[in-house]
Amino acid sequence: MAWNTLDDMELRGKRVLTRVDINVPMENGACTDTTRIERIAATVQDILDRGGKPILLAHFGRPKGERRDDMSLQPLVPTLEAILGAPVIFASDCIGPAAMAVVEALPEGAVALLENTRFHKGEEKNDPALAAEMAKLGDVYCNDAFSAAHRAHASTEGLARLLPSCAGRLMQAELQALEAALGKPERPVLAVVGGAKVSTKLDLLGNLVGKVDILVIGGGMANTFLAAQGIDVGKSLCEHEMAETAREILAKAAKKGCEVLLPVDVVVAREFAAGAAHQVVPATECPSDAMILDAGPEAVAAIKAAIDRAHTLIWNGPLGAFEIEPFDVATNAAAKHAARRSDDGKLVSVAGGGDTVAALNKAGAANDFSYVSTAGGAFLEWMEGKTLPGVAALDVAGD
Ligand code: 3PG
Ligand code: MG
Repeated sequence: MAWNTLDDMELRGKRVLTRVDINVPMENGACTDTTRIERIAATVQDILDRGGKPILLAHFGRPKGERRDDMSLQPLVPTLEAILGAPVIFASDCIGPAAMAVVEALPEGAVALLENTRFHKGEEKNDPALAAEMAKLGDVYCNDAFSAAHRAHASTEGLARLLPSCAGRLMQAELQALEAALGKPERPVLAVVGGAKVSTKLDLLGNLVGKVDILVIGGGMANTFLAAQGIDVGKSLCEHEMAETAREILAKAAKKGCEVLLPVDVVVAREFAAGAAHQVVPATECPSDAMILDAGPEAVAAIKAAIDRAHTLIWNGPLGAFEIEPFDVATNAAAKHAARRSDDGKLVSVAGGGDTVAALNKAGAANDFSYVSTAGGAFLEWMEGKTLPGVAALDVAGD
């Protein structure tokens, strides 16, 4: 695949319809994590510097085609202005006269923000009529929303086919990092996959065992793998019905020469609560009235040794119940170790998806990873080996 970047486009005087993902967490009308807004700043700045007019298209929440005041993008205007360092002019619709009026009157140096694309039913249906209405507002389409690229929606996919298109700076950075981690990685490649459930990460594990050299399985899903090997995991979170699937994944790994690391020792407790009384036991000896809440010290040592052997690391999901202490120990220790190796230039480390960024931030490790993706679901689908429609639509390789 090949795609244009902003460098390939003539932007002076052009209306640049820029799809961003500013689906940020909000509490009481205020944004509680501005990372996604910070990460689009370079693209907006670049467009402004080159005399273009950035017109931001974005979704917020899941309003399912209805106009909902609680899912308006308008409350984000002050945060956008502060981070982008430019006036942001809001339009109450992403198509039609309200949008056109804002776009036509946009002063030089200002940014237009169009209302939530998902207020229109056609957005999630990738309705060509909606995409055509959006296309009237721009001369160039720039997609900077990697984290929404797993959706084939009018503003992420349809629009790319109607206007000269390019990837924004964040999209470029995401694609480059992912290519370095799984496309043409420096081997050995280590994947760390954690999280609660095997059932949500089946395709991901199935794809990874065919691509990476070492796979660490942690978190609740490790219990399912232990149980599938006949180990009693007591009252631990465990999907017993996934045992056969877990065995198939292990068999595929063995066939492909992928070494799988399951925890050899674990931290168990009788209750799921911060500060609960706990003990370390071999993974084979979880008491029947206890639950596994973290990987033990020997397991952590094995993970650290695997990190030392690897040249590339891809990380998704925590190794234990990292939200409550002291069951964040394994996640913190492994993440810090990976961060150190990356900082020393010994490891290319890429992390993303769901809880992962929160876990790495909590460990104080996120800043030293080589790359931390802004994507949740899109990162997982990419790890599954799927083509992301928003990325595919930018492909100019055949042109
Ligand atoms: C996200 O936050 O994961 C993206 O913005 C995509 O949102 P969605 O899962 O509602 O499509
Ligand atoms: Mg999502």
